[in-house]
Amino acid sequence: MDTSLLFIYPLLSYLLLVDCSEIPFQERMLLKALGLNGRPKPVAPGPVPKTLWKIFEKGINADNPCRMEGFQVPGNIVRSYKDQGPLSSNDMSHELLCLKKHLFFDLSVVEKKEKVTLGQLEIKFKHNTYQGQEFQLQLYRPLHMTLKSMRDHKTSRKLLFAQSFRLHHKSLSFNLTKVAQDWTNTKNNMGLILEIFADGNTTMVNHLPSSCEHINSFIHASLLTVSLDPTSCKAPRIKRSTEPSMPTPSNICKKRRLYIDFKDVGWQNWVIAPRGYMANYCHGECPYPLTEMLKGTNHAVLQTLVHSIEPEVTPLPCCAPTKLSPISMLYYDNNDNVVLRHYEDMVVDECGCK
Ligand SMILES: *[C@@H]1O[C@H](CO)[C@@H](O)[C@H](O)[C@H]1NC(C)=O
Ligand SMILES: *[C@@H]1O[C@H](CO)[C@@H](O)[C@H](O)[C@H]1NC(C)=O
Repeated sequence: MDTSLLFIYPLLSYLLLVDCSEIPFQERMLLKALGLNGRPKPVAPGPVPKTLWKIFEKGINADNPCRMEGFQVPGNIVRSYKDQGPLSSNDMSHELLCLKKHLFFDLSVVEKKEKVTLGQLEIKFKHNTYQGQEFQLQLYRPLHMTLKSMRDHKTSRKLLFAQSFRLHHKSLSFNLTKVAQDWTNTKNNMGLILEIFADGNTTMVNHLPSSCEHINSFIHASLLTVSLDPTSCKAPRIKRSTEPSMPTPSNICKKRRLYIDFKDVGWQNWVIAPRGYMANYCHGECPYPLTEMLKGTNHAVLQTLVHSIEPEVTPLPCCAPTKLSPISMLYYDNNDNVVLRHYEDMVVDECGCK
């Protein structure tokens, strides 16, 4: 059985006793189907980045749930990481250096089977009305992290980006795809060094260029990655024309409406959105002879035939989903990162006998 089905089925068999699968309700299994080892326990979750809300609100392209349309890359997981690096304010080795900060994003949550297809660093500035001042930004990657090399920073780091900006830029973003791919191997992740310099023509106040005061308290850095978990991608499905639904006796196999509220499962602390969703389920009999309407597979048609001859030996086919569609979920992980993930086969669209 497809693992993602495990999400729906244990819930349903618990709530409604689905005829065919007798999987006991186990939250651990539900979480596993969602690619989680346990129920996440966010400690101090921050606000959800606008980019992630936008992707969530836009919804999934059901024909290709393994592509992140907004970024034009393959992927079914988007994570936004908080910066955990310290501010190293006392290292003012250059007279125009306003700010030096170590940026660190913990990518250890990215699983081995995932392929990172995009990495984007965003540096946001607090709103500032002062627009004239120009700054220089430099972003380095440390090559060897030893105490000595931290002090002697010039020799052991590689310049990734250098650019000038003014504070009326609300944010700057940098392509860190290659670096993020490298960071999934934890021992390669020594973070980044961010330095911001005032421009050359400025007066000095208390050993700092006077213009630095406009930048000192501003900064918020975050990393966004898109990755692809190929194990939860299937081949693109063939579109089926939806046949007009005919009136059916109520005990015949068909789709039934079911809304799953995450509060009922006790997940409201870490699932950000949706609050719940229309999962639906299949229920009903698959009698002999199977009609066209019951969307029986060839195998199911044969099985009902055999059942009609030898009812003790061969059971009737099961009423099961024949068409499922994906949903996306936004949630916090254990590191308070915000994660958006596409899950296939979460909504039952059509049922049939198989
Ligand atoms: C980011 O960089 C990678 C290579 O490092 C490149 O393949 C990709 O196209 C770049 N993305 C954007 C949006 O520029
Ligand atoms: C430096 O600033 C002063 C006063 O703001 C200005 O007169 C001078 O031309 C500036 N020099 C340069 C090199 O920009």
